[in-house]
Amino acid sequence: MNDTPIAEEIAALKKERGAVILAHNYQRPEVQDAADFTGDSLELARRAASSDAPVIAFCGVYFMAETAAILNPGKTVLIPDPGAGCPMADMIDGAQLREFKARHPGALAVCYVNSTAEVKAECDICVTSGNAERVMAALPRGREIIFVPDRHLGSHVAGKLGAKYILWPGYCPTHARLSAKRVEEVRAAHPGAPVLVHPECPADVRAAADECLSTGGMCAYARASSAREIIVGTETGILHRLRRENPGKTFIPADDSLVCPNMKKTTLESLRDCLRDMSPRVAVPEETAARARSAIEAMLAAG
Ligand code: 13P
Ligand code: SF4
Repeated sequence: MNDTPIAEEIAALKKERGAVILAHNYQRPEVQDAADFTGDSLELARRAASSDAPVIAFCGVYFMAETAAILNPGKTVLIPDPGAGCPMADMIDGAQLREFKARHPGALAVCYVNSTAEVKAECDICVTSGNAERVMAALPRGREIIFVPDRHLGSHVAGKLGAKYILWPGYCPTHARLSAKRVEEVRAAHPGAPVLVHPECPADVRAAADECLSTGGMCAYARASSAREIIVGTETGILHRLRRENPGKTFIPADDSLVCPNMKKTTLESLRDCLRDMSPRVAVPEETAARARSAIEAMLAAG
């Protein structure tokens, strides 16, 4: 916890409300420092599911807070800035998915957790970048599989498992900015440094990297690796955590322009205000939440 006056206000409000503060690895450094737990989507979903705090203040993008709300029907889930969306999650809605499914009758529908509650409600199971390979390897064989919305994560897992999925053409605009040429340039400038990229990166970028990992996977890799320099091909917010946890190592952003504007919308001020006002809250209609919950719980049970 940092000790600026506003961080002190947050700590006092957190105690008063009985709140737990969860933050994604891409959040601003000061927001990560104010959180009880910082992690990737899977780790945050698990924390949300296991937390006994009556209030969850979720510092991330909307679908992540929505996942926490779906898993905690009796609790209050606060999102400091409800305008923090995920453009990839918004690349498919429930009606488009129903129409896609109708074109592939009998197919299993799998969604990346970066999707809206109404899309999750239409799916059999959900995955995150941290468990997609494991969860999808365990799916029943002999059935077609629809994967939405991220075509890059879908093609990454298909390649790993030697499978064929029917992919929705969604993508992350932030990770789309990283090019294979850029990866090679940074590698040439730092010979011997392993290159880590996120599975949301395009196929040629993944092929140019040494490892393709979720943000939690990158943190685990950094802790375990003997490399002194590591090149990081994902949203640059993760550099704060990597540097804090590994003071003797150097982390080089593959591209400084990998900044997700939505992840940066949450500030210490908006975190303080939401704890003070107990608003904005995330609410998912129970009929949608119940169906989305079964896709998320299927994932948590499998992963
Ligand atoms: P992680 O689950 O790897 O943290 O990814 C979430 C995300 O939105 C990446 O863009
Ligand atoms: Fe969505 Fe990409 Fe931002 Fe992650 S980095 S929240 S996938 S837009």
